[in-house]
Amino acid sequence: MQVATIAFDRFNTLQDDEAQERIRAARARLGKKAVLLCHHYQRADVYQHADLTGDSLKLARLASQTDAEFIVFCGVHFMAEVADILSSPGQTAILPDLAAGCSMADMANLAKVERSWRELAEVLGRPDALITPVTYINSAADLKAFCGEHGGIVCTSTNAPTILDWAFAQREKVLFFPDQHLGRWTGYKKGIALDEMVVWDPDLECGGLTAEQIHKAKILLWKGHCSVHQMFQESHIRRWRMQNPGGFVISHPESNLDVCINSDYVGSTEYIIKTIAAAPANTQWLVGTELNLVNRLAEEMKPEGKRVQFMAPTVCMCSTMQRIDPQHLAWSLENLADGNVVNAIRVPPHEAGLARVALDRMLAVS
Ligand code: 13P
Ligand code: SF4
Repeated sequence: MQVATIAFDRFNTLQDDEAQERIRAARARLGKKAVLLCHHYQRADVYQHADLTGDSLKLARLASQTDAEFIVFCGVHFMAEVADILSSPGQTAILPDLAAGCSMADMANLAKVERSWRELAEVLGRPDALITPVTYINSAADLKAFCGEHGGIVCTSTNAPTILDWAFAQREKVLFFPDQHLGRWTGYKKGIALDEMVVWDPDLECGGLTAEQIHKAKILLWKGHCSVHQMFQESHIRRWRMQNPGGFVISHPESNLDVCINSDYVGSTEYIIKTIAAAPANTQWLVGTELNLVNRLAEEMKPEGKRVQFMAPTVCMCSTMQRIDPQHLAWSLENLADGNVVNAIRVPPHEAGLARVALDRMLAVS
């Protein structure tokens, strides 16, 4: 029987213990109707409820494969949008707190990308014939739709090298948004010269570039970054290596180029977990990615004598993902169990169709 929607106010002041209890009770009532997907950065008090965990690529695949009626996404907004786009019509993606966005994704929007495309057309003629737009999955659905419409594609931190090959097989240049660092590192690994990868500043006329720079560029890197990964610096690695000779450094490719170059391993959150888990016992690791994940890894690896340390001296959490707390999770699940869908993420059909084109290209290539 459906009862009236419960307002969040009633959950805001719940003690953590009570919120946990109500999450468990609501999940028992929902059974297999709801699946709980969690990104690796999710805080521990929410992560413990996950049915399935992963990086962005794995979660996108899992969302497309589940047959649960409700996909409760403990991650950020763009991840829940991808779940909505890739799931079937009868399924609903839910984001327990709508304020859980991604500050990097917010650094690009459709108006700016379309203006950039027009400006590139003025310099190059027909951008559709010369440039493949590649959007990192950390972007709004309308930017994925832009890529779908203009012969472009989506990439994740796992498949960016393969996707870049695909993009260059289509056209001679790439417009990569919104993360300049993932684009630069991926291009660098492919041997593209640094002066052929220029930063496109969407707030300046023509990206702040001359016509000559645009003609010469192979990759136009959108001026965007992750506020968490920008905290990691090459000097942190240097200092740590002096104190831990023989230790290993592993970083996420959203870190800057110096950090990536000076790391022993670079890859997605799933890759970081698997690499450290597969390493010999009693090894030392410095990890350049979000703090919740590093703390969890440090605990999990202790029994094998592996020491896992966080790269930056300051606290670097994904503060937006952190907003999905036990109170919001309890609120959304209890409403669902009562028959009320709160915080459904619904991408408009036309946009979803075009975004799916770009996502399906990615899934087919990677
Ligand atoms: P992954 O796909 O590697 O999990 O990265 C997502 C993300 O937002 C990293 O900041
Ligand atoms: Fe976005 Fe950075 Fe958070 Fe990843 S860690 S979701 S890129 S703000």
